[in-house]
Amino acid sequence: VPPPPPDDSLAGKRVLITAGGTREALDPVRFLGNASTGRQGVSLAEAARDRGAEVVLVAANLEVPAPAGVELVTVVSAEELLAAARREADRADLVVMAAAVADYRPATTAPLKLKKADLGERVSVELVRNPDVLATLAAERPRADQVVVGFAAETEADPERLLALGREKLAAKGADFLVVNRVGFDRGFGEGATRVAVLGRGGDVVAEAEGDKPSVAAAILDAVAPR
Ligand code: CTP
Ligand code: CA
Repeated sequence: VPPPPPDDSLAGKRVLITAGGTREALDPVRFLGNASTGRQGVSLAEAARDRGAEVVLVAANLEVPAPAGVELVTVVSAEELLAAARREADRADLVVMAAAVADYRPATTAPLKLKKADLGERVSVELVRNPDVLATLAAERPRADQVVVGFAAETEADPERLLALGREKLAAKGADFLVVNRVGFDRGFGEGATRVAVLGRGGDVVAEAEGDKPSVAAAILDAVAPR
């Protein structure tokens, strides 16, 4: 049997994907971070590349290798991610916000390493809200036909309540699609199987997928890719 013809359904399209987890500096050597490895975003970038798209990956502290054949823009913090994503979103046909963006950052970053002697036995860190990258990109959409996709990682165990949380988030962000998955201490992040539901603009489930991150990435692209 001859091999199947290559899938070039995204040829001529520019796809912006954010991946990884931001780090918010406390001092030059310490940060607040999260458990995202970037694997899901990297799988999405590879899947879009393999469908012929021109892919730009805005990558925050990846714990997996960046894929070949995509343009890589590396960032560290949420504010850097916002600046890079805004710049790149301008030309994008599809925007996928797979990065885990810190909701808060330290109100101040110490210019020198913090010392216990100056801090004592108990320390409070004041945090301030970070900008919402997804909501910003959705609001600043350069063209009406640009497709904007968000992710929601929730610890809610009840499937109906999980979807309800997703619907609220989708509406609050103004995205076209929201990929909902359940995360916990031992699921969702890193290797292994994930299970997602893709909500469409009206809040309906337009796709469900379960499996390794590459096959989930393919199912997500099937659901959201601009035609
Ligand atoms: N997101 C973002 N900028 C932020 C926070 C989140 O762009 N400052 C994006 C994420 O990349 C994801 C989506 O918003 O695509 C949902 O992220 P999530 O953390 O699930 O939602 P939040 O709105 O931050 O709500 P909360 O964490 O309070 O549940
Ligand atoms: Ca959040």
